[in-house]
Amino acid sequence: MNDTFLRACRGEQVEYTPVWLMRQAGRYLPQYQAVRANVDFLSLCKTPELAAEVTLQPVEILGVDAAILFSDILIPVEAMGMVLEFPEKYGPTLSEPIRNKSAVDKLIVPDTEDDMPFIIETIKILREKLEDKVPLIGFSGAPFTLATYMIEGGSSKNFINTKRMMFQNNRLFHYLMEKLTLTITAYLAAQIRSGVQAVQLFDTWAGAVTPYDYRKFILPFVRKIIAELKKEGVPIIYFANDCAGILKEVKKSGADVFGIDWKIDMGDALKKLGKKVVVQGNLDPCALFLSKDEIEERVKDILWKGDTAKGHIFNLGHGILPETPVENAVALVEAVHKYGKKV
Ligand code: CP3
Repeated sequence: MNDTFLRACRGEQVEYTPVWLMRQAGRYLPQYQAVRANVDFLSLCKTPELAAEVTLQPVEILGVDAAILFSDILIPVEAMGMVLEFPEKYGPTLSEPIRNKSAVDKLIVPDTEDDMPFIIETIKILREKLEDKVPLIGFSGAPFTLATYMIEGGSSKNFINTKRMMFQNNRLFHYLMEKLTLTITAYLAAQIRSGVQAVQLFDTWAGAVTPYDYRKFILPFVRKIIAELKKEGVPIIYFANDCAGILKEVKKSGADVFGIDWKIDMGDALKKLGKKVVVQGNLDPCALFLSKDEIEERVKDILWKGDTAKGHIFNLGHGILPETPVENAVALVEAVHKYGKKV
C-alpha cells in the first residue's frame, strides 16, 4: 500500500513528498464533466456509485498519493435542516438564513447513519475500490466557515450578518457554533468509523476575522472538535485559509497537519509555526497556468522550504480552479514526485 501520505501526516520518514490537490475531483476534468452532464451536483454527492467514481478519477489521471471523498462542506448543513441549493453558475444558497434563536432551536444535530447514509455508503465503496492503493481522506467544513454560509444564506464578501451576530448577540452565535461543533464531531467520527484514514477540516473563511476574534470566536470550537477526534486515531488536517495573520493561534488548534494557503511564503509560515510541525499546501492554484518549467521552479521552492519541517505534504494553497489545464496538474504531480525524492 502507498501509505506515504499517512506517514507524512504523522511526521514519519518518507521516501518522497506525497501530493494531493484540494478539489482534485471537479470541473477541470472532462471525465468529471461527463458524469455531471447527466446529474446535478447535489444528486452526484448523494449517489454513492457516482460520488465514488468521481473521487477515483484524479487518483487515476493525476497519480496523486491520496483520494478525498467527493461531497461538499454544506451537506451536513442540509442535514441540520436548512434548504440547500446549488443554482448553476452561482455559489451555494441556503434559504431562510439563521438570524434568531428560534432558527437555531430548529436545527438538529444530524445522525450520519440515518440522515446522510450516502456518505457512509460512498466511503465503503471507495475503500473497496481503492484496495489500499492510496489512503482515503474524509472532510468537513469547520464551524465558523459553515456558520458564515448559514447566517449569510450563501457566500459573502464582508460577512456583515455573521459579524453582527458575533458582536451583538454573542450568546446566539455561541449557541449556533456549539450545535455545529457537535454536528461536525459526530460527522467526522462516523466517516472515520466507516473507513476514512485521515480527515481535513476546511476553514475557508477563518482569515476573514481579526486575530483577536479568531481566538475568541473560532479557535475554541476547532480545538474542541480536534480534541474529541484525537480518540479516533487518524491524522487531523486543519486548513485555515488566509492564515498569515493567525498562524500562531492556528497552531493551538492541536491539529496533526496545518494546511497553508498560497498568500504566505512557506518559509515565513514555518517561522511562525516552528519547524516541529507537519505542513501541507502552499502552491498558488493559478501557478497551474504557468509553463511546465515555471511550475517546476515553484514546486522546488516550496519543497525546499517545506522539507525543513518535521513533515510536508504537497498541495495547492486552495482548491484547483475549473479552468486549469489537466496536463499542468499532471505535470505538477510528476514534478513533486521527481524533486521531492529523499535520499
Ligand atoms: O476536494 C475534493 O475534490 C472533494 C470535493 C469538495 C467539493 N467541495 C466539491 C465541489 C470539497 C472538499 C469541497 C469543499 C468546499 N465546498 C468548500 C471548502 C473548500 C474551499 O474551496 O475553500 C467550500 C467553501 C464549499 C462550498 C462550495 N461548493 C462552493 C462555494 C461551491 C461553488 C464553487 C464554484 O466554483 O462553483 C461548491 C460547489 C462544488 N463543490 C463543486 C465541486 C466539484 C462544483 C460543483 C459543480 O460540479 O458544478
